Amino acid sequence: MSDTENTSNNLTFEQVLEARLSRRHLLKGGFYLMAASVLGTGLSGCDASEKSAVSVATQDLALAFKPVAKSVADALSIPEGYTATVLLATGDPIKTGVTAYKNDGTDHDFNNRAGDHHDGLFYFGLNAAGNGWDASNAQQGLLCINHEVAEDLGFMHPTGATDYGKDSTNDRPMQEVDKEVAAHGVTVVAVTKTTTGYRLSPENPLNRRITGETLFELDGIAAGHDAMKTAFSPNGQQTRGTINNCANGYTPWGTYLTCEENWAGYFYRREDDSARTAKELTGFKRYGIKGDTSGRYNWARAGANDTTDLYRRWNAGATGATATEDFRNVANTFGWVVEIDPFKAEATPKKRTSLGRFAHEGAWPAPVSVGKPVVFYMGDDSRNEYIYKYVSDALWSEQDANGGMAAGDKYLNAGKLYVAQFNPDGTGTWLWLAMDNKAISDYANYTFSDAADVVINTRIAADAVGATKMDRPEWGAVNPLNGEVYMTLTNNVSDKDGRGATTPLDAANPRYYSSIKAGKSVAGNVNGHIIRWREAGNDHTTTQFQWDVYLFGAPASDDAHVNVSRLTADNDFSSPDGLWFSEAVPGLLWVQTDDAYYTDTTNCMMLAAIPGQVGDGKLSTLTNKAVTTNNGNDQDMNTHAGKQPGDNLRRFLVGPKDCEITGITETPDGKALFVNIQHPGENSSETWATDSKMTSHWPDGGTARPRSATVVITRNDGGKIAV
Ligand code: FEO
Ligand code: CA
Ligand code: CA
Ligand code: CA
Repeated sequence: MSDTENTSNNLTFEQVLEARLSRRHLLKGGFYLMAASVLGTGLSGCDASEKSAVSVATQDLALAFKPVAKSVADALSIPEGYTATVLLATGDPIKTGVTAYKNDGTDHDFNNRAGDHHDGLFYFGLNAAGNGWDASNAQQGLLCINHEVAEDLGFMHPTGATDYGKDSTNDRPMQEVDKEVAAHGVTVVAVTKTTTGYRLSPENPLNRRITGETLFELDGIAAGHDAMKTAFSPNGQQTRGTINNCANGYTPWGTYLTCEENWAGYFYRREDDSARTAKELTGFKRYGIKGDTSGRYNWARAGANDTTDLYRRWNAGATGATATEDFRNVANTFGWVVEIDPFKAEATPKKRTSLGRFAHEGAWPAPVSVGKPVVFYMGDDSRNEYIYKYVSDALWSEQDANGGMAAGDKYLNAGKLYVAQFNPDGTGTWLWLAMDNKAISDYANYTFSDAADVVINTRIAADAVGATKMDRPEWGAVNPLNGEVYMTLTNNVSDKDGRGATTPLDAANPRYYSSIKAGKSVAGNVNGHIIRWREAGNDHTTTQFQWDVYLFGAPASDDAHVNVSRLTADNDFSSPDGLWFSEAVPGLLWVQTDDAYYTDTTNCMMLAAIPGQVGDGKLSTLTNKAVTTNNGNDQDMNTHAGKQPGDNLRRFLVGPKDCEITGITETPDGKALFVNIQHPGENSSETWATDSKMTSHWPDGGTARPRSATVVITRNDGGKIAV
């Protein structure tokens, strides 16, 4: 090992101040006082230009809770001195007059109930009039909650789902399909702080569901393009439904972003490939829309009994004479970043096509500066996919705060889309995805017709420019202290096409090793890592950056070539997914896991961290040693590893059995966290049948069917969380 990074790129005091000019602080109006008081203490007696601005700003910040032990119990574990309360579980009413969820499969009205598989979420403080964003209000707010999928095991039906899956040729009951479609999407629900904690406000008129059936407008570069036209929308300006809403984001103008991830598997396309053009087939292949399946839930097959487009629309086959007579293009209306105005129940949500089409995990904003473009970072969560950013053409104006969908039209419909290339020397480049880039206009493997074709087939455009294949990009987050951007790379395991198999190791994705779980060996990047980068000049619109790997996931007991970050029993983890910087406590980072490779030792978890900065570690040479099949990857690989975290990384929460921890947001005072527990009991079998086949009964206990849920976590002494 040798030192390569130095601190010559440290940020100046002025740059740190600018980075902290986040939306929330601007709205509060007291920002300069706050910044001066935080930074002033640390700066006394030292020269800001000679000392790391990050360490100055974080030197008084410390984690202040006892780490939670790993656990495989069917229970939610949190630190001593904290309380977790279930706020909203699958099927719970979000409106007055809706009956309590019986959790036996007999409630069908999911348009008035929380959907399933809670994922990303965000808290918007409500203003005094109750119709707009007050980013400082911790007393009352709107929670926007994603619902990624309907439980595959059929908990929402009395005795499981009927004729699910690709092998079935039977028609599906329409009532089941309707319920599953309605369990997808987003919940908007008001919450209020009371003397006993946060409670739902079912009477709030802004409470609503957005589902797999809701009307959406298509907007941005691809709207109205021939490839977006369907029988439902012959002009290519609309579609119905949002699905697989995974992670999320928010805008500086007070709207919610929900992102469509694994949408490709929902579509039926059992047709002869000769019915489609060569370009269409290339797109289907690159996005995983197969020609021999009936789709994840077989939803198209409910249409056999129905003449409406509600079910027929899941069939992406060319069944009619033209594209406006069938739904051959319907899959092009999914895979987008979706914008919702939580403060206007009547506002039609929009799919923002200029941000590209892929398996969108989420879209996370950089702090805005007046007169500068608005920037969002995005990940494409599939093996060997890419990291993207969007830079708006329009320049930020404070007058657009609380601007709703009109501000979205201004900032999200026109901009530059980039994809990341990570170089071995620790530098990186943002590559422009546009017809003006000759790598795209001259691409040999696919002839792009126009700008809309580039965003509809973003993955192919990114292939053309030579983006770096990553180990499944999940959540991103921007450190409010210094503007550095973090992104989880959850893992990349596969015998066929995972890291170290057909995809070579590289400096940014440097690990290949074996892990034994339940007697079975898997190889690749089994436990994932978290990469981070600093944009050149701390300018989020630039095309150059410097990167390192903040953390490598690993069991604490693993050898040093796997446990590169030297994790201990107090903070070892696998498969990082959710990632989020607190704004109430600048410098505090949260990491959540969605794991299948360490779950024999512990259920999924959430950790709190106080990270340093890019370049605070060393150039490391990793020795990749596989126990079994090595595909020739027992090779040394240089990477840029961040400083080992020590006790600046601690496990804060462990979820119940077979869950994923995903989605986190806070009240603006930092005194309440909202966290989603997704699919407890996921590995149950015939779950509806008997108690003994369910691996979890959380949160209701007893013999109840398990449910996903939002929990609210507070500190018993009323203080800020984790510090
Ligand atoms: Fe839905 Fe990539 O997690
Ligand atoms: Ca995720
Ligand atoms: Ca995941
Ligand atoms: Ca999941």
